[in-house]
Amino acid sequence: MKIFTVLGLVGTAAAFATRPGLGSIGQKSLPSLNSRRSSSSTALCMKTIAVFGASGLTAAECVYQALKDGDKVVGLTRNPSKLVVPKGSGGADADKPISDPNLTLIAGDVKNPSDVAKVFETPIDGVIVALGGKTSDVGDTMLTDGTNNIIAAMKEKGVKRMAVVTSIGAGDSKDQAPFAFKLLMMTVMKKIFNDKNNQEKAVESSGLEYCIVRPGGLTVDPPTGVINVIEGEAGSIPRADVAQFCLEAVKDENFPYIGKCPCISSVGGTSWTKDRSKAARGQA
Ligand SMILES: NC(=O)c1ccc[n+]([C@@H]2O[C@H](COP(=O)([O-])OP(=O)(O)OC[C@H]3O[C@@H](n4cnc5c(N)ncnc54)[C@H](OP(=O)(O)O)[C@@H]3O)[C@@H](O)[C@H]2O)c1
Ligand SMILES: *[C@@H]1O[C@H](CO)[C@@H](O)[C@H](O)[C@H]1NC(C)=O
Repeated sequence: MKIFTVLGLVGTAAAFATRPGLGSIGQKSLPSLNSRRSSSSTALCMKTIAVFGASGLTAAECVYQALKDGDKVVGLTRNPSKLVVPKGSGGADADKPISDPNLTLIAGDVKNPSDVAKVFETPIDGVIVALGGKTSDVGDTMLTDGTNNIIAAMKEKGVKRMAVVTSIGAGDSKDQAPFAFKLLMMTVMKKIFNDKNNQEKAVESSGLEYCIVRPGGLTVDPPTGVINVIEGEAGSIPRADVAQFCLEAVKDENFPYIGKCPCISSVGGTSWTKDRSKAARGQA
């Protein structure tokens, strides 16, 4: 059973939305989150979700899991061919191309408003932003500029709900980053964090129904099914679990973290699992 837990300073834990884990591959329609969506096989309940940065490791989990759930996805990435079935929830299908009649992939740059507008040519119910990359590749302000373009397009089209993946350490969560990560934030990742902080500010002042998702160290492990909202120092979390949190944030009308910036990790406390994204990208 899926559990979102809040790990508070006093050690209290509260369970939130529940649904069985995504463990079984090939399961066509997962049981629903709550009574409102009493049957996820009802076409009326299906959503169309826009995923920005669709070829990314977290974004690919969002795309894949949404399609598995019977939703439609419109994705934007500069390199659509980079999108493959994710290792985490893809099981034996990992690394295969994703071809699904319910997936529309658009090749474009989120910094370009006309590319962003192409995504919203399809009526969109919810938006997931899982952009990233080194500033040397993507530029110093891609996250902020791109997110501003997305927000403008959402407002124009009346799309209300968005989940935005930033990071542990962004905004007022600085002290929730483990010490070693804090050092990186202040040095080699300084530009990225400047952009992330500005991205968060843009989202917070958008007036939209947003959830800023601040994950701890990301892995490509299979989903654990446990997502802890951590008020202290956060540990690591599979991208597959981050994706599920994001999907629920845009699909569940009563999602408990709207207008909030939860730090999430699958392991409590201070552990920090080595990121294996390089290996997942075939870079050894
Ligand atoms: N690594 C960690 O431990 C960690 C921890 C906490 C938070 N985070 C953050 O979590 C987020 C997701 O990380 P991730 O490793 O899953 O992501 P990722 O694999 O680096 O994916 C990011 C995606 O953004 C897309 N992108 C970049 N510039 C773009 C542009 N101008 N237009 C359209 N798409 C663009 C890229 O796709 P194209 O190149 O195809 O355009 C890329 O696939 C990142 O913001 C990261 O900083 C990471
Ligand atoms: C595509 O989406 C529709 C609902 O929008 C759903 O009924 C159908 O099963 C999906 N198709 C696939 C191949 O998943």
